[in-house]
Amino acid sequence: MLLFCMALDCAAIRRQFPFLRKQEHLIYLDSAASVQKPECVLQAMDAFSRQKYANVHRGLYPLSEEATELFEQSRETVRSFLGARHRDEIIFTKGTTESLNLVAKSWGNALLKKGDAVALTVLEHHSAIVPWLQLKEEKGIEIVWIDIDDQGHLKRDGLTRVLKKGNVRLVSVTGLSNVLGIRPPIKEIIAEAHQAGALVCIDAAQLVGHHPVSVQELNCDFFAFSGHKPYGPTGIGVLYAKRELLRSMPPFLGGGMMIREVRRNGFTPADAPQKFEAGTPPIVEAIGLKTALEWIEAIGWNAIEAHEAALMNAAYETLGGIPGLRILGLQKPSDASGCVSFVVEGAHPHDLTDLLGQEGFCLRAGHHCAQPLHERLGVSASIRLSVALYNTEEEIRALGPAIARAIKVLAT
Ligand SMILES: Cc1ncc(COP(=O)(O)O)c(C=O)c1O
Repeated sequence: MLLFCMALDCAAIRRQFPFLRKQEHLIYLDSAASVQKPECVLQAMDAFSRQKYANVHRGLYPLSEEATELFEQSRETVRSFLGARHRDEIIFTKGTTESLNLVAKSWGNALLKKGDAVALTVLEHHSAIVPWLQLKEEKGIEIVWIDIDDQGHLKRDGLTRVLKKGNVRLVSVTGLSNVLGIRPPIKEIIAEAHQAGALVCIDAAQLVGHHPVSVQELNCDFFAFSGHKPYGPTGIGVLYAKRELLRSMPPFLGGGMMIREVRRNGFTPADAPQKFEAGTPPIVEAIGLKTALEWIEAIGWNAIEAHEAALMNAAYETLGGIPGLRILGLQKPSDASGCVSFVVEGAHPHDLTDLLGQEGFCLRAGHHCAQPLHERLGVSASIRLSVALYNTEEEIRALGPAIARAIKVLAT
């Protein structure tokens, strides 16, 4: 693994991505949807699958014991990456969506009652909204919304107002908006929510991989992310939850390995994390995720944040110079991170990204699983440009003339 100091050597980074080496004609600006994988992640999963593979927590033969050891080392890497206190606070799931569903369907279902409220921000992704709407239908809980201003900043008085109602038991807030690239002040939100007696769940699907985090410093109660955004594989995600919360929560799914004992007339669940990991877990993916997180740490946060800030500057400069294009939310790149979304007068986002795709630019169009946010912004769809470590300023600047060409085609 290569080590980098402060300034990021983007060419060296790019060489580590087989996908980018093979698809030289593509300019991949859709990393908020899913990130390409470095060679070391692919190799680690391949080597494990070829040489060390066995199911975990089951076999007493050496191969299975070693696989279990490697799988648990992955959990330790995640613990250390998130700055969690205990390894058993790290639950492996399928992804952020499953992690957030686990919170709603285990903690929410068991501990919330009719009349209790969950506060959501209009920035949220559907996976942080729908599980709570389901619980609203099932249990009669209330959903209260925290609004944003036109730049996308959360209205702090809105938070204070909903917390004053006295029945908010949990605030669910994104760590980084997958549409506007804005980062709500989660540390302050957590402190304020705790003062009002509410827990806080952070949807960190976009945050992890772009910025360092410490769940202990944040003092959040739940924290969810997916493996495939911070350079790891699909099929794995993480839910961090404080140990005492996990103790009070019933299992989410039933099946093998989540029990201490099964009788004909009942069962006793295992302790966390096994309690929440029914069935065969994502073993190979855990090896990949460990390698991905170590890869990120070897590059270093200063270099990562500096490179991505330069990319966001280039994005704002490029998009800002296109007549008829409107950037949604933040108007300055200084607060934006990871992605920026925009609309173009007279051009449907789908038509525009279709034409850009024909030129090799991969950008996402649609509501990005954030319909309430789009409704708040007064648009039904937008185009999203998102970046990762392998992108260059040149790639982003090349998008300007391509958008201008596409606008011209759509105007004729
Ligand atoms: C902010 C946010 N939350 C949740 C998710 C859901 O992640 P996954 O589809 O990996 O479960 C995404 C995916 O893009 C996201 O951007």
